[in-house]
Amino acid sequence: MLWTSCKNDNDDPDPTYTLTQEDLNKSSKEVELNATGRKFGDASIPHGGTGLTTEDTYRDMYSTIGFKSSDASAVGTIFTKRTYMKNADGSKGDLIVTFAMAKRESGYFPDGGDWEFVMMPNDGSNDYETNPNGMLPDASQTEMRGQLGMCAGCHSQASNDHLFSQSEVPAFEATQGDLNAATYEEDLMITGKEYGDLSIPHGGNSGDPDSTYRDVYSNTREKEDLRVGSVITKRTYVKNADGSKGPLLVTFAMIKREAGYWDDGGDWEYVQMPNDGSNDYEANPNGMLPDEGAPNRGQLTDCAGCHSQAPGGGYSFVRGTE
Ligand code: HEC
Ligand code: HEC
Repeated sequence: MLWTSCKNDNDDPDPTYTLTQEDLNKSSKEVELNATGRKFGDASIPHGGTGLTTEDTYRDMYSTIGFKSSDASAVGTIFTKRTYMKNADGSKGDLIVTFAMAKRESGYFPDGGDWEFVMMPNDGSNDYETNPNGMLPDASQTEMRGQLGMCAGCHSQASNDHLFSQSEVPAFEATQGDLNAATYEEDLMITGKEYGDLSIPHGGNSGDPDSTYRDVYSNTREKEDLRVGSVITKRTYVKNADGSKGPLLVTFAMIKREAGYWDDGGDWEYVQMPNDGSNDYEANPNGMLPDEGAPNRGQLTDCAGCHSQAPGGGYSFVRGTE
């Protein structure tokens, strides 16, 4: 319809758009891969169904336009998301479900930014070689496709047109629960100069690195990269004269914050929690997280100055040494 392009009348309705299987398959430009955890703040969900936490899945996002394109809100733009289980060792598991958002004409669904929402569980009937984003349900299946209020309600919190991947990532503020979730063993019974000349007793005072045992844990599984929301903790114990493990002296944490939080600290937040008798270590085995702004939490230059020398440039000694 060539004549429409000659008109320049802003009152014209936007052209209508109908989502097809062929178009859905074209959403193949990488937007973000392996999103996991609470990267998008409190809005983050496992996006894989009930009974899962945000840490249990990986989410891969694609679109027809790529990352932060100015066409994100153009009619006909499609965003897709593929959700996979995360295996116990942190590797990527089976595909659970795929999702789509397709931008429709203005007025289609004002409460949902005029996006059409689609949900396509992996029920075994789709060939993902042919349809990598799932098989589009018929438009009559209004529970799986269309003006899905449940999707729109949450997506309306994204600052850029209902699209989380195209919005600013919110500040990551760790909770006590995030600290407690650091239960994966990284390296236990560290003592002496196991990590070279920078090794310290890490017990809150100077001394011989051979005078303590240090146990390091994280919430980031073995095969998973460190990322926003990663927490690494360390528990330091006295080493008794007979070589056995003595009382707990102090716990530490490093919390990976959003990009830009603190360049000189590798965007880590540093925490020091001396065992002063006020914590219940049954409930909080990595210590009790001080309030944000407390002197023993935040951009602690003494910690970062040494950790900046960790091999690999990631500020973690344990993860920097393969
Ligand atoms: C409780 C909040 C919430 C609900 C409900 C929700 N989403 Fe999302 N969605 C997110 C977040 C957060 C992201 C960002 C990526 C991530 O963390 O997985 C996202 C990303 C997406 C993306 C990639 C595009 C983008 O950048 O936002 C698609 C497509 C998507 N969701 C579709 C859906 C569909 C379809 C539904 C309903 C069946 C739905 N979502 C329900 C929170 C939600
Ligand atoms: C002089 C160097 C130095 C200083 C200062 C230092 N650390 Fe460390 N840190 C290390 C080394 C070396 C390791 C490796 C494990 C070990 O030997 O105990 C480590 C390990 C850690 C770990 C485990 C994560 C990892 O892989 O690096 C945490 C958490 C940690 N330190 C927190 C802190 C905090 C918080 C401070 C400041 C209060 C701090 N550190 C100060 C040298 C240092």
